[in-house]
Amino acid sequence: MKNKIYIIHENNEWIEPLRKELKNINAPFEEWHLGKRNIDYLDKPPQGIFYNRMSASSHTRGHRYAPEYTAVVLNWLEKNKRRIINNSRALSLEISKSLQYAELEKCGIKTPMTIYCNDKESIIKSANIFRKPFITKHNRAGKGLGVKLFKNKKELDSYVSSKNFEASVDGVTLLQEYIDANPKIIYRVEFVNSKFLYTVEVDASEGFELCPACPEDQIEESNTQFFGEFCPTIGNKFRIVKNYERSSLIDKYEKFISENGIEIAGIEYVKDKKGEIYTYDVNTNTNYNSLAEKDSKLKGMKSIAEFLKKELLLLSNIKVVA
Ligand SMILES: Nc1ncnc2c1ncn2[C@@H]1O[C@H](COP(=O)(O)OP(=O)(O)O)[C@@H](O)[C@H]1O
Ligand SMILES: [Mg+2]
Repeated sequence: MKNKIYIIHENNEWIEPLRKELKNINAPFEEWHLGKRNIDYLDKPPQGIFYNRMSASSHTRGHRYAPEYTAVVLNWLEKNKRRIINNSRALSLEISKSLQYAELEKCGIKTPMTIYCNDKESIIKSANIFRKPFITKHNRAGKGLGVKLFKNKKELDSYVSSKNFEASVDGVTLLQEYIDANPKIIYRVEFVNSKFLYTVEVDASEGFELCPACPEDQIEESNTQFFGEFCPTIGNKFRIVKNYERSSLIDKYEKFISENGIEIAGIEYVKDKKGEIYTYDVNTNTNYNSLAEKDSKLKGMKSIAEFLKKELLLLSNIKVVA
């Protein structure tokens, strides 16, 4: 087979589980690390399928402009009509919570009340409307960047005026209502091949901690609570929900991803004490928790590898036996 699967990314470590699964099924692939590699786009792109795994948090690994460069590469691939999984539209959503929420709402999916601020002054001013605890987060995030909980405006003022204030890499900070869940559980719904795969629940009762694999992000500060990204190294807090009931929310998510060029994703939601569901994060470069998957027949990365191989065979006009 001459055609290959091209993996567009900027984090070697995160690709390891995918490498393993692709090798297991003898699927030919090549990695394009767009934090390091330059693509000569005067030529036509090679034949194959292209899987975009660019991450919103690339700047925390020294790849500040990798998403911008990925957009250029995806434009070039799209102009040349290549098959892309998670296309340029998906990338636009990956790097903007504001776009995620606008598109989720368009599909009838509720998101937390959010205000977008472009400087410290507007953060301090806009926070006046909150009567209950609220959080800050970054518009371009991942890894729980800038996610902090404030019980009141006074706490926020002192944080914003302190040297600990972290601005979003795109300059836009979100103020968002805090959804108080009881029990403290959050859910992440995984999609592969544009279809629901499984839902993972995360015990957040000890606070939403930052990823232990990312020690540079562990900053201590009183009065604020830190939240963490879904990280495959945090094992026992993650559990695949058995017999998860497929609701209209899943139908809406599938519609939302298909309308936004997304075929592989993890979407996060939280339920408040009244049972109201709020969706707050869309990840297009999803990782899976191996401990949670141990007791499950459904495997995220294996499903991705099989999906990519099937797409490659389709491109090569080789009949796929279901
Ligand atoms: N509005 C909210 N209410 C309660 N908890 C939240 C809210 N938004 C985020 N969190 C918590 O913070 C974590 C990180 O926030 P998220 O929006 O997923 O940012 P990131 O894109 O950096 O992962 C979530 O997984 C969740 O635990
Ligand atoms: Mg998240």
